[in-house]
Amino acid sequence: MPTWDDAAQWYVDGVRGAGRGFNDLAARVTLDLLGGPDGVAGRRVLDLGCGEGHVARRLARLGARVVAVEPTAALLDAARAAERAEPLGIDYRTGGAEDLGPAGPGLADARLDAVCAVLVLHHVADLGAALGHVHRVLRPGGALVVVLPHPWTDHDGARWVPGPGGEQRAVGAYRREGYWSSGPAAGVTGPAPLTSVREIGWYHRTLGTWLTVLGRTGLVVHEVREPAGDDVPGADPRWADVPRLLALRAVRR
Ligand SMILES: C[S@@+](CC[C@H](N)C(=O)[O-])C[C@H]1O[C@@H](n2cnc3c(N)ncnc32)[C@H](O)[C@@H]1O
Repeated sequence: MPTWDDAAQWYVDGVRGAGRGFNDLAARVTLDLLGGPDGVAGRRVLDLGCGEGHVARRLARLGARVVAVEPTAALLDAARAAERAEPLGIDYRTGGAEDLGPAGPGLADARLDAVCAVLVLHHVADLGAALGHVHRVLRPGGALVVVLPHPWTDHDGARWVPGPGGEQRAVGAYRREGYWSSGPAAGVTGPAPLTSVREIGWYHRTLGTWLTVLGRTGLVVHEVREPAGDDVPGADPRWADVPRLLALRAVRR
C-alpha cells in the first residue's frame, strides 16, 4: 500500500495540475465556512495537514496569519519552496494532528481564531486526540473547518452501478469503520503511478461517529455543507447530484 511519502510528488502534480478542480472545490468550501475573505483577514489560522500548501497560500493572500502543519517531509518541502518563490509569511512546521504541543509543532494553547483540516482528518488514526489538540489551540469561539470525502458516498465498496438514468452511486460497507484502501487500480499488478488517494486509503467513520466525537470534544457543529463535484472543471458528471465532500464548521465552546 503506498504511503503519503510515496504519493507526495503525485499529489503535488495533481493539486497544481490536472486534479486541481477537486482540490479547488475543497478550498472554496473551506474559505466559505471560514466566513469568506472578511472572515479570514487578520485572523490567526492553522492549516492542519497542509500538504503542499495551496489552502495556506489562499488564506495568506487574503490577509490571514497562517501557521501550517504537515507530517510528510516531501509535501512540506514543496510548500516551503512555494513560500520562497512567493513569500506570504506562512509559518510551516513539521507535525501530525495527533500532537500539536511541544512534542510536535509546539502550538500554544487557545491562541488561534480558526483551524482548517482540508481532506486530512480521515487520514488520522486517533481522531479524539487530534480534536483534543484542535480544541486546545483554538480560542473560545474559534472555528474548526473540516472537509472530508463524503463518508456516505466514499468508503469501502461504495461504487458506481447501472441505474435507470445512467450510473448511480451505491453504498458499500458504510457501517464498517476503520482503515480501508482500494488497492491498485484495476488491472495493475506491479509498481505503478497512483490514480487516487483511495489507493493510499483512509480511516472510514460514519457520520454518527464524526458528529459524536466532535461534540464530545467540545466542538459544536454550526454549519454543514455537502458539495457535489459538478461545478469543477472536467468533473465526472456522475457526481452532479451526489455529495462529493462533507464540509462542516464547528465552534469551540
Ligand atoms: C489529501 S492530502 C490534503 C492536503 C491538503 N490539506 C490539501 O487540501 O491539499 C492529505 C494530507 O494529510 C496529511 N496527513 C496524513 N496523516 C496525517 C496526520 N496524522 N496528521 C496530519 N496530517 C496528516 C498527508 O501528509 C497529506 O498532506
